[in-house]
Amino acid sequence: MEVMDALKGRQSVKNYLSTPVETEKLNRILEAGRLAPSAYNHQYRRFIVVTDHALKKEIREKAGTQPMVEQAPVLIVYCATEDIDFTMPNGEKTYPIDAGICGGYMMLEAYDQGLGACWLGVFDPEAVKEVLNLPEEVKVVTMIPIGYHDGTQERKPRKPLEETVSYNKY
Ligand SMILES: Cc1cc2nc3c(=O)[nH]c(=O)nc-3n(C[C@H](O)[C@H](O)[C@H](O)COP(=O)(O)O)c2cc1C
Repeated sequence: MEVMDALKGRQSVKNYLSTPVETEKLNRILEAGRLAPSAYNHQYRRFIVVTDHALKKEIREKAGTQPMVEQAPVLIVYCATEDIDFTMPNGEKTYPIDAGICGGYMMLEAYDQGLGACWLGVFDPEAVKEVLNLPEEVKVVTMIPIGYHDGTQERKPRKPLEETVSYNKY
């Protein structure tokens, strides 16, 4: 698939079928995340793949998040693992940016594999840490459900380019 076709076709999928995700497809999604760039190429990240239904249910209940966490056959929990306070000269922390690029890669590869995915930000990361028994220093940045879309959602529009881009001035 052309990159632009994936960019145009991808959407945040919030309703999933119970159809399992094939191992080869999941591996390609994880590989896409592995290939993502990170600041200084540090790769301070760990993807925890949660497929156990009882665990997903516990995460949904305790982290106060959406049904898709339990509904999707696979939940990728993205953890930033080290140097959480590292800040670039522009004042921005690196770990959320690393996570955003990495999650974007994985969501696009999921789309290329005929699967749906969604970036999740609304949850209690401390509760997720507790359920998964994660080390204290780790930060749970996002959770990305992966599975087959039930086909009920329309794609969302974007602002036109003229409202998004300007040349040589704001
Ligand atoms: C930083 C970030 C946080 C998000 N958090 C959630 C979330 O907690 N729950 C949810 O349903 N969607 C979440 N989304 C998905 C957005 O709602 C979605 O990307 C946006 O509405 C555009 O829709 P599209 O991805 O289908 O084009 C999040 C997206 C981003 C980038």
